[in-house]
Amino acid sequence: MNAMELLTTRRTYRRFAQKAVPQDVVDDIVQAVRLSSCGANRQAVRLVLVQSPEMVAKVQPLVKWAGYLPPEQGTPKADELPTFYAAVVQDTAIPGDLATDTGIALANMTLAAWDKGVGSCIMGAINKPALTTLLGIEEPQKLAFMVAFGYPTHKAAIVPMTEQTGVKYYLDENRDYCVPKRSAEEIARSL
Ligand SMILES: Cc1cc2nc3c(=O)[nH]c(=O)nc-3n(C[C@H](O)[C@H](O)[C@H](O)COP(=O)(O)O)c2cc1C
Repeated sequence: MNAMELLTTRRTYRRFAQKAVPQDVVDDIVQAVRLSSCGANRQAVRLVLVQSPEMVAKVQPLVKWAGYLPPEQGTPKADELPTFYAAVVQDTAIPGDLATDTGIALANMTLAAWDKGVGSCIMGAINKPALTTLLGIEEPQKLAFMVAFGYPTHKAAIVPMTEQTGVKYYLDENRDYCVPKRSAEEIARSL
């Protein structure tokens, strides 16, 4: 896959095969964060890798799926759950624009996984207090996001954003995700 194919197909996935994410993909995810550009090269983003089935099971009820969809459509069922989570943590003792650095790290790690066929869902709607305790995250480290990973069992495609669709993703008749995106003309203007 070239870079534009990777960017086009690296969508958010929310239903997964019950198959472990291999260690080489987990290693790539770590490297993708390690190699990320960041302000003043301060490298304040950290990961907690949740790989054991027992810990993954404890994380599942603490994340919220697909806010635009009713739970019966957007929340993965027991046999559709992700098999690996990475907690994305900021070391707040390190000064800088942690939000931007975290965003770049999220983009890189999800792209690295997708390059090996592993889909992901960046999750901001999470129970931070409960996850912070569960994962043993201590000050000055701060939990920012969870990212769910697994082998997707559905497709996800870009559709043009219209007045009808707005920004809300929806499922088509095959339960595949349709993700409306604004036109290139709306995104960029040339002078
Ligand atoms: C910062 C951020 C937070 C998100 N939080 C959640 C979440 O809590 N639950 C969820 O199901 N999806 C979440 N998503 C996924 C978005 O809904 C998804 O990226 C968006 O609908 C566009 O779809 P796409 O990633 O396929 O382009 C989040 C994405 C980002 C970037």
